[in-house]
Amino acid sequence: MAIIWYRVGFILLSFAVLVAHSAPQNALVSQLPGYSGSFPSKHYSGYVTINEATGKKLFYYLVESEGNPSKDPLVLWLNGGPGCSSFDGFVYEHGPFNFEKTKQGLPKLHLNPYSWSKVSSVLYVDSPAGVGLSYADDTSEYITGDLKTATDSHDFVLKIIILFLCYGIVNVLISATQWFELYPEFLSNPFFIAGESYAGVYVPTLANEVAKGIDAGVKPVINLKGYMVGNGVTDEAFDGNALVPFAHGMGLISDDLYQETTRECNGNFYNPLERSCEEKLQEVDREVDGLNIYDILEPCYHDSAAKDATDIKIRLPSSFLELGATERPLPVRTRLFGRAWPLRANVREGIVPTWPELLSSSDVPCTDDEVATEWLNNEAVRAAINAEPKNVSGDWELCTNRIRFSHDAGSMMKYHRNLTMKGYRALIFSGDHDMCVPFTGSEAWTRAMGYKIVDKWRPWISNGEVAGYTQGYENNLTFLTIKGAGHTVPEYKPTEALNFYSRFLAGKAI
Ligand SMILES: *[C@@H]1O[C@H](CO)[C@@H](O)[C@H](O)[C@H]1NC(C)=O
Ligand SMILES: *[C@@H]1O[C@H](CO)[C@@H](O)[C@H](O)[C@H]1NC(C)=O
Ligand SMILES: *[C@@H]1O[C@H](CO)[C@@H](O)[C@H](O)[C@H]1NC(C)=O
Repeated sequence: MAIIWYRVGFILLSFAVLVAHSAPQNALVSQLPGYSGSFPSKHYSGYVTINEATGKKLFYYLVESEGNPSKDPLVLWLNGGPGCSSFDGFVYEHGPFNFEKTKQGLPKLHLNPYSWSKVSSVLYVDSPAGVGLSYADDTSEYITGDLKTATDSHDFVLKIIILFLCYGIVNVLISATQWFELYPEFLSNPFFIAGESYAGVYVPTLANEVAKGIDAGVKPVINLKGYMVGNGVTDEAFDGNALVPFAHGMGLISDDLYQETTRECNGNFYNPLERSCEEKLQEVDREVDGLNIYDILEPCYHDSAAKDATDIKIRLPSSFLELGATERPLPVRTRLFGRAWPLRANVREGIVPTWPELLSSSDVPCTDDEVATEWLNNEAVRAAINAEPKNVSGDWELCTNRIRFSHDAGSMMKYHRNLTMKGYRALIFSGDHDMCVPFTGSEAWTRAMGYKIVDKWRPWISNGEVAGYTQGYENNLTFLTIKGAGHTVPEYKPTEALNFYSRFLAGKAI
C-alpha cells in the first residue's frame, strides 16, 4: 500500500514537471547554418531508434506550429520514391524556410510565408531506414517493402509521442507505458498523416496501422483525425489507365490517336494484351516524350552527365536522356526527378526500382536537388540538426538506391475504404498538370469507391480566384485539383496549398 501511494505521489509530481518540460531539450535546434534570424517557433530534430539490435533509426525534423502548438494539429509528412527523403518537402515545398542558392556554397535561408507550420506542427520523417538521414547499422534492414515500412513508421509515431511527452524526468520515474495507462488521453492535438507520390502508399498503410492500434487499445492513444495524399500512387489499374485520357484532355495527343488507342486497347491501357494496343501506346509515349513529366508546362532541366546512361530496363522519356539541350534559365525548380515513375512504368506488385536504378546512374536528371544536397551534406548543418555525420549515416541524397523495396500491399483502395468508413477524413489532392501520377487516375479511383456525392464538382476559390476543382463524397472523402500545379503541389502553388491545407485541417469545406 505504502509503495502504491509513494508511486502515485511520484507520478503527480512528475506530471507537474512534465507540463514545463514536455519536449526533449537535447533535440532542440537552436541555430541553423545559412539562417541568422530568430525562429518563429521551436524546431526539434534527431533520431528515433526502431530496432536496437540492428541499429535501425529514423530521422525526424519537427517544426512546431507558429500558431498555438499545444492545440494545433500535428501533421506527419512523407515524401515518396520509394527512396526519396522527406527533406524534399522541408526544403522545396512547405517547410519553414525558402532556400536561396548562393555562389559561395551553403544556401541562405529565408522564412517561408506559406510554411505549413503557420497552422500546424509538421513532423518530417525520412522513411524507411536507408532513406535521407535515416539509416541502420545492419544494412539487411534496407531490404523492405510497404508493410514493413508501415509498421516501422507506426512504431516511430508511438515512440516520438512518448519522447515528446515523457522525455527525461518522467522516464526515470516510471516507464512510458505506465504513464499512458494513467493518462491515456494525453496526446490531445489532432493528428494527421500526409504525403505525396509514392507516399500515396505510405500514408494509407501507416494510417491503417495507427487506426488498428487505436482499436486494439495500444498506448499512447493517437488522436488520428485524417490524412492527405497528393498525386499519390494508389492502384495499378486506375493509375495505369490515367495517362492516355490525360494526354488527350491536355491536347498532347490527337483525337485520332486517342480513338485508335482506346479502340485497340479496349480501354485497358495499363496492361496491354494485344500487340496493336502496345504499338498505339508507344505512339502516345513518343508524343509526350519530350515533356517534363512532373509539370507539362515547365521545361525540363537538362544536365549533360546522364546522356550516356545505358542498360535502362524501362523505357525512359527522352526528356530524361537528351541532356544538355536546354540553356534557358529556368524560373522555378524544374528538375523534378525521383518522386515517382517514368511513363507507364507504374507501380506493380513486387520490387519497385528506385530512380537511380532506373537510370543506372546516381545523377538524377530533371531534378534540382542542389541546395538540399549542399545543405544536408554540410557537417555543421548535420551537427545543428542532431544528425549523424556522413561517415555514420552516409551522404544525403534526394532519392537513394540504398534500399531494395517491394510493393507488397496491393491496391490502396481497400485501405481508403476502411479508413473513411471508420470516420477518418481523407483529402485526395492533385496538381492537374502532373503527368507522373495524373489527376485523371485519382479522380477515377475516388469516384469508383462508389460513395455518394455530397458536394458536387465545383470550383474552389483561393484569394478570390478559381484555384482548382473539387468533388466531395460521403464518409468525408474529398477529391481536389490544384489548377496549374505539377507533381509537388505546394512547390508550384504555395498560397493555394496553404489555403486548402488549413481548411482541411480545420474540418471546413474547401
Ligand atoms: C566521423 O567523423 C567525425 C568528424 O566529422 C569524427 O569525429 C568521428 O570520429 C568519425 N566517426 C567514425 C565512426 O569514423
Ligand atoms: C478492412 O477491414 C476489414 C473488415 O474489418 C478487414 O477484414 C480487412 O483486413 C481490412 N483491410 C485492411 C487493408 O486493413
Ligand atoms: C466528417 O467530418 C466532420 C468534421 O470533422 C464530422 O463532424 C463528421 O461527423 C464527419 N462525417 C462522417 C460521415 O464521418
